[in-house]
Amino acid sequence: MIRLNRFLAHCGVASRRQCDLLIDRGEVSINGKTIRELGFQIDEERDRVYCHGKPVAMQAEKMIMLNKPSGYLVTASDPHGRRTVFDLLIGIRERFFSVGRLDHDTTGLLLLTTNGKLSHRLTHPKYHVRKTYHAVVQGVPTEDELEQLRTGIKLEDGITAPARARVIRKRRGTSWLEIKIFEGRKRQVRRMAEAIGHPVIDLKRTAIDWLTLGKLPVGKWRDLTSEEIKKLKNRVNYQEESS
Ligand code: URA
Repeated sequence: MIRLNRFLAHCGVASRRQCDLLIDRGEVSINGKTIRELGFQIDEERDRVYCHGKPVAMQAEKMIMLNKPSGYLVTASDPHGRRTVFDLLIGIRERFFSVGRLDHDTTGLLLLTTNGKLSHRLTHPKYHVRKTYHAVVQGVPTEDELEQLRTGIKLEDGITAPARARVIRKRRGTSWLEIKIFEGRKRQVRRMAEAIGHPVIDLKRTAIDWLTLGKLPVGKWRDLTSEEIKKLKNRVNYQEESS
């Protein structure tokens, strides 16, 4: 059973707030009867729901990957009207949840899913999902400094879980680090690099666990295949009953 307004939003009819308005205006019917109660409980298997006379049904679960450009916020809406990653999802009607966040200036792999519970699992530190970043930092960290990242470093919100870190390139007083973390705290990689005295100049996420961007151009998205979704679900022990 699910509340009518939630069901409509989940089916991608409109935002939750707009769905409330549709119900309130008497534009939604269930089994032939107009229902104006937002919290009316429906059985999504049996009840026949119509909006503006057209049938409404749960859509198959979807998951996409976006190659996020710099300059976009990962948020559903911004009170200051700044650009968000949802502005890039042209042609998408469903409500997507981002799997974790990337900072405004961070680029690279962002996953989005219509399954809020799966999103929660993929970001939960308990499941140790590996996130790989390429960071351009000021200076060249010493082995000792890298070791601090590997064992855990003290940040204001606690010691980080052991990470993997190595220098992959050095160039004109900067270096490229590959950093793999297994949690997802706010601005974590930037804060870790800052803590060892090598502030981040540029940051890109290149992989989430085994999933990489491949040849996906910056600013573009693609659907994940059902095999990819299945593999991610297995990775976090997600069983359909838990949805
Ligand atoms: N760590 C950061 O500092 N920023 C991101 O966007 C992601 C991880």
